[in-house]
Amino acid sequence: MYRTNTCGELRLSNVGQQVTLAGWVQRTRKLGGMTFIDLRDRYGITQLVVKADAPEALIQTVNSLGREYVIQAKGKVAERESKNPKMDTGEIEILLDEVNILNKSITPPFTIEDKTDGGDDIRARYRYLDLRRNPLKKALMLRHRITQETRKYLDEHDFMEIETPYLIKSTPEGARDFVVPSRMNPGEFYALPQSPQTFKQILMVAGYDRYFQIVRCFRDEDLRADRQPEFTQIDCEMSFVEQEDVLNMFEGMMRTLFKKVLGIDIPNPIPRMSWFDAMDYYGSDKPDIRYGMKIHEITDLVKGHGFSVFDEAPYVGAIAIDGCASYSRKQIDELTEWVKRPQVGAKGLVYIKVNEDGSFKSSIDKFFSPVEVASIAKAVEAKKGDLIGIIVGDKRKAEVQLGTLRIEMGNRLGLRKSDVFAPLWVVDFPLFEWNEEENRWNAVHHPFTAPKPEHLKYYYSDKKEDIAKVCANAYDFVLNGTELGGGSIRIHDHDVQERMFEIIGLTHEEAEYKFGFLMNAFKFGAPPHGGLAFGLDRVCALFGGSDTIRDYIAFPKNNQGRDVMIDSPSKIDQSQLDELKLNIRENK
Ligand code: AMO
Repeated sequence: MYRTNTCGELRLSNVGQQVTLAGWVQRTRKLGGMTFIDLRDRYGITQLVVKADAPEALIQTVNSLGREYVIQAKGKVAERESKNPKMDTGEIEILLDEVNILNKSITPPFTIEDKTDGGDDIRARYRYLDLRRNPLKKALMLRHRITQETRKYLDEHDFMEIETPYLIKSTPEGARDFVVPSRMNPGEFYALPQSPQTFKQILMVAGYDRYFQIVRCFRDEDLRADRQPEFTQIDCEMSFVEQEDVLNMFEGMMRTLFKKVLGIDIPNPIPRMSWFDAMDYYGSDKPDIRYGMKIHEITDLVKGHGFSVFDEAPYVGAIAIDGCASYSRKQIDELTEWVKRPQVGAKGLVYIKVNEDGSFKSSIDKFFSPVEVASIAKAVEAKKGDLIGIIVGDKRKAEVQLGTLRIEMGNRLGLRKSDVFAPLWVVDFPLFEWNEEENRWNAVHHPFTAPKPEHLKYYYSDKKEDIAKVCANAYDFVLNGTELGGGSIRIHDHDVQERMFEIIGLTHEEAEYKFGFLMNAFKFGAPPHGGLAFGLDRVCALFGGSDTIRDYIAFPKNNQGRDVMIDSPSKIDQSQLDELKLNIRENK
């Protein structure tokens, strides 16, 4: 038997027991003739002690131990003289009488401590060493818990876990596909699924009325802290449901996860907000409602005062920034430059300081009397001590710019606390958005999302303004400003689906080529159905209080989409290319 106990297990109640532990040497140190070894495994760290009067052979072995050596240690559990309340095993130590070196280690390139000296790159290259560190261990443990609780909840609610293929035909989730050449069908390619969307719908046609899968999805898109080229979805679909049924089922799932994993009760019911309100008041389709600072439109209020910036603007909006009236000229200039950065894109920032004594100081004092400024402050719900930031422009663009400023100020003012959870359903999305570049309609969610029945008259209209009015039975689950999940009630009618393809500009032939299998399936009695998918990596990161998902994935890719541990992507042999009948074109 390699070990009797783990390194995180022993307590005062074990004192006197003879035990065998196995693990990695975290560090050794000598103190007054004694040698202390911190031994680490997945479960924790236990202190081992070798006294000065121990047998010479034992002392020699212990002296030869280096960092990350793998050892087996035998000895008796004893109460520590100086206890360490920060360690679970801090009240005991093991008085060693035997050490066996199971394997040596070369010196690791960074310290395997909670706070390591290794930079991102080196830790990614030696991911297996990084994974030995506590923060990553905790992150993966959290992921394991969330995954298990998810499976349990869905199983208890009659969902069947069914796998779907990875080598498929393109799925329209809006990103580029990763493609895989087919040796047996030269010149033809599989696409890796951006999601199992079409398969889960076909499973509904097949009669499996509650499906789920914890499944890898692949999207070739620009990476961010919350985006990986391969990521995991909790993918679900249900038949004979309306939107309300789906929302209730998955609200229940999230409530269960919060309770079981974090011991937290989230609001019941979870608030809902229409997409239009989300855009108007938060300038985002994923509002962070942990704090106020809502956007207010003041277009009508500020027109006609001779200030051309306002008079000529199609939209004027403002937010009251908590307690920032004390900002200096320099700070306001910096904020103005910040909103003018290309990433934000505002033309400028008009400000009003609502001083603590109730007076105002603003960049528009020339055009507005104090009474008029006061009415703006009132409309924006500004309190004494607030700084009002005003942005003008096209309605949606200016709202998004204000929304970005709101998030930035939320960060700067510490209002976005990672241990506060504010979930939200965003509902009533528009079904289509106009794609300026390609001069055509895009499906906002994906082209299997059903229009609201009451909007079918617009759906079948030829007028652009009518198409713009069609809302979808679609919903997103938003947590603290991150989209955790999204889904919709699907089209299950063949004709409605054909009309969808027509609106988004797919010819009959293209639709047939890409989705003929689904359209055909719909001819054989498709039940009404709907579902959604949560991004598991994002759920884990938010539960863990982080906004980067990389720590919650055992082997993630870096920002260039590379796995630097295995050095991938990489070139393949000419013989492989030949077999696939592929030529690499030289980049000129
Ligand atoms: P959607 O495209 O909204 O919907 O994806 C669902 C959820 O997956 C997560 N997600 C990602 N996580 C990490 N990295 C990525 N690159 C990434 N892309 C998406 C997000 C998102 O909310 N088939 C539909 C679902 C449905 O309609 O049922 C779909 O895939 O958390």
